[in-house]
Amino acid sequence: MTPTLSFESPETIQTEALVIVAYEDGAPDSPAIAELVRGELTGKMFDPVLLHRPPGLAARRLLLIGGGKQDAFGSAELRKVAGAALRFLKGKGIREFVFVPAGNVSPAAQVAAAAEGLLAADFETDTYKTDKKEDKRIDRVAISAAGADLEAALRRGVVAAEAQNFARGLINEPANRLTPQNLVARARQLASETALEFEVLDEERMRELGMGSLLGVAQGSAEKPALIVLRYRPAAAAASGLHLGLVGKAVTFDTGGISIKPAEGMEKMKYDMAGGAAMLAVMRALAERKPAIPVSAFIPAVENMPGSRAQRPGDVVTSMSGKTIEVINTDAEGRLILADAITYARRQGCTHLVDAATLTGAIVVALGHHNVGVFSNDAVFQERLLASARECGERMWPMPLDDDYKDQLKSLIADMPNVGSRWGGAITAAMFLKEFAESTPWVHLDIAGTAWLEEAKPYMPKGPTGVGVRTLIELAMQMV
Ligand code: BES
Ligand code: MN
Ligand code: ZN
Repeated sequence: MTPTLSFESPETIQTEALVIVAYEDGAPDSPAIAELVRGELTGKMFDPVLLHRPPGLAARRLLLIGGGKQDAFGSAELRKVAGAALRFLKGKGIREFVFVPAGNVSPAAQVAAAAEGLLAADFETDTYKTDKKEDKRIDRVAISAAGADLEAALRRGVVAAEAQNFARGLINEPANRLTPQNLVARARQLASETALEFEVLDEERMRELGMGSLLGVAQGSAEKPALIVLRYRPAAAAASGLHLGLVGKAVTFDTGGISIKPAEGMEKMKYDMAGGAAMLAVMRALAERKPAIPVSAFIPAVENMPGSRAQRPGDVVTSMSGKTIEVINTDAEGRLILADAITYARRQGCTHLVDAATLTGAIVVALGHHNVGVFSNDAVFQERLLASARECGERMWPMPLDDDYKDQLKSLIADMPNVGSRWGGAITAAMFLKEFAESTPWVHLDIAGTAWLEEAKPYMPKGPTGVGVRTLIELAMQMV
């Protein structure tokens, strides 16, 4: 399903269901319809009322979907409400409908948000179920368009949401079906379908480059590691000289290694590659959106296993930067692979870096499941990213990175340990990465709490969220 635009008047349009937003503090425009839903329509966020044979409309049904308070209804609310409408109708076996956008934003912003909300809501996680509910499937959706020149806005929304769903598809894959080498194949495939340049650094090449920190994590697994590189170059070189580097953690499964995790919930650690999947997805979208500046993605892909060759607590590895690391806890593997990927990205000439990683349980303690933790060594760049996140309706929250936290990163034998003390674990993890970003403006996104939705929402199934994708597309488009 790809949403299209409809320029017909909502009253005369022939459809299985016409969807309009109803507010808590407003009544339907049509007095006849207002009369029919009296006492039942609350307008509360996502509350649905479905009418059959609505008077004065050519549609077979009218879905009034709650949007809450009218003043507070912007693009973030619209995105979710469009999704909630889709999931409600899908549950009823309705396969085609027309959505009428609303809200306190421009018609273009409405169309883009509606497209994003509809597509993201249509994502299903039942890849390996043998009896898929074929009757519960959306075939066609139109967005009712109030003005002209909305095709570009629609396309923008579709590209962003399809990228987000692409990431979710990868994240949802179990670790036996998505090994580091499978991820390499998916990236190669993506590059072959677009104008993106593709390169992969294998174990041998990484050894030559001195990526001891990344390789130390990989050595406990029989699965071969890789550093995946995708490059987008604009047709005309950007005068600004900016070059955005996107670094995404792709641990296809995190057992913890020798510092092994408890069995309970360990199956979830297949999503430890959500940062890498997000960066692949962003590149997929940028191949079409064509930002003004070059953008490169660096995705270290490994499996963290406690094999007989696995690294031990207390081992010392030498990173590509030359800095030595005492591996106190083999479960703090994300920062070890990111360290070398960040160094490599800097040496490739990136002027700005963003990394995304399911890095710490501590960020879940700090922010719960609602906000991405944002860390940076550059206030201006961080604000730029946060502005993009607000624009896209992805909630992100700035976290501190004062030098005081660095006191926790002291090792007797090496330059630094890979873990700090018990407190402020998300911050010390970021502090560790900061050592490798050095002077390059850098933002770190800890998505451990937000990459996986623990409970279904009216507008989204339980499972991978694809968080970060929309924000980073927007950020790349804003950089000139
Ligand atoms: N992949 C985990 C972090 C994680 C936790 C992601 C929960 C998603 C949900 C990471 O590699 C990890 O194991 N971090 C440790 C660090 C600790 C050993 C300092 C953690 O957070 O417990
Ligand atoms: Mn771990
Ligand atoms: Zn991990």
